[in-house]
Amino acid sequence: MLNAIQERARDGLVAVRRAVDALRPRELEQSPLEAALRRLIDEYSRNGALRIDLAVPNPLPRLSPVAELGLFRAAQEALTNAVRHGRADRIAVVLEAAPGRLVLKVTDNGRGCPAVVPGNGLTGMRERVAGVGGRVSWESPAQGGFVLEVRIPADEAVGPGEADADAGAGFAGGAVVGRSVEA
Ligand SMILES: Nc1ncnc2c1ncn2[C@@H]1O[C@H](COP(=O)(O)OP(=O)(O)OP(=O)(O)O)[C@@H](O)[C@H]1O
Ligand SMILES: [Mg+2]
Repeated sequence: MLNAIQERARDGLVAVRRAVDALRPRELEQSPLEAALRRLIDEYSRNGALRIDLAVPNPLPRLSPVAELGLFRAAQEALTNAVRHGRADRIAVVLEAAPGRLVLKVTDNGRGCPAVVPGNGLTGMRERVAGVGGRVSWESPAQGGFVLEVRIPADEAVGPGEADADAGAGFAGGAVVGRSVEA
């Protein structure tokens, strides 16, 4: 009898926890990096002329704060460059977890750049990312647009293909041909 009561109480508690979890705002469940990226993107898309999609893998491997900051700053610089140089009106920010690494890809539909001469932005990004054992590369397809890729080593190995499918596809996708530079 006592056992049955205890069991029912426990079931009730589980149900309450589930209900509370369902009410919890999404931001509380996000990693600091994801929350920061969402805020950044909100800021950039505030004027309405620019559409930015974000895809984040679930689960997102945790990185060191320095590595997270490196990825955040890289995304920030990539958005600035896409608007300032490319005059892009659509940008995809995609984080992808692969075994042993996390990859940030920022693709824009702007006019691209036939010959990239790194300035402070890309040079600083390269240095910051190298400091956490990562690499930066970019390419600008002949038909326009710009793709920036940052690879950071991550301890947690998470299989690929787990990113949200609600962003990224549909523009500037497919085979990227043309100029490519490894930083
Ligand atoms: N998304 C992009 N679309 C088109 N061109 C780009 C893009 N990103 C970079 N570039 C080209 O690469 C160059 C170097 O970029 P980088 O960010 O290093 O320097 P910058 O933006 O010119 O100056 P800053 O030091 O303020 O960042 C740019 O001047 C531009 O020609
Ligand atoms: Mg720049």
